Amino acid sequence: MQLQEILFSQGFGTRRVCAGLVQQGFVTVAGVPCAEPATEFVADGLHFTVQGVAWEYHEKAYLMLHKPAGYECSQKPSTYPSIYTLLPAPIRQRGGGAAAGVQAVGRLDQDTTGLLLLSDDGKFIHRMSSPKHHVPKVYEVTAKHPMDDRQIQKLLAGVVLDDDPKPVRAAACAQTGELQLSLTLTEGKYHQVKRMIAAVGNRVEGLHRSCIGSLALPADLKPGEWRWLTAQDLASISALP
Ligand code: URA
Repeated sequence: MQLQEILFSQGFGTRRVCAGLVQQGFVTVAGVPCAEPATEFVADGLHFTVQGVAWEYHEKAYLMLHKPAGYECSQKPSTYPSIYTLLPAPIRQRGGGAAAGVQAVGRLDQDTTGLLLLSDDGKFIHRMSSPKHHVPKVYEVTAKHPMDDRQIQKLLAGVVLDDDPKPVRAAACAQTGELQLSLTLTEGKYHQVKRMIAAVGNRVEGLHRSCIGSLALPADLKPGEWRWLTAQDLASISALP
């Protein structure tokens, strides 16, 4: 693939902008400057720098973000900044057009922290967020009042939320402290954790998503930081039933 096409596909701007970046000497490939936009490279796995920033070619983008509190998962947030502002511009612009860039796989509330996946692969987003696939998600809940066994049994047996007569239940629920609970859900209804905890007479004071399927939020990924999913991450998450 031509170098200018590689930059274009990775979100560095229009074809003209990408050709300009190369011609101005802003691009190196595998450590070597390249000023000819039409130079051909094998794109897969290509390492390059643009204005000193290191990149690797990804045909499709699959990322994890440690969502901090105080960010909305919307492209057009109403009150708080958007999580998309935490990503570099090329990742927000990949693909061009109206549906440019990566999209979050589902949403977390403004005050919820933790693991969020993003991608520009529509099939992956659908598979991970579709209720049909029952991808388990683990939430660490801090409740306002001490949790008791009766509340935990109710969460496991199923509670009725206001907009749906069909009870929703936790796939797993373990008390991890007087006020702490680890709750596994396989659906993703609006404010589901907060509404389930309210339905058993308690209240969520803090909410953190620690796992999606087999993927756990890495301890070294700080709030606001993101990283590419590795081939191993993708293989393990794609192997879900
Ligand atoms: N359930 C909630 O109530 N909020 C979230 O952010 C995620 C799950």
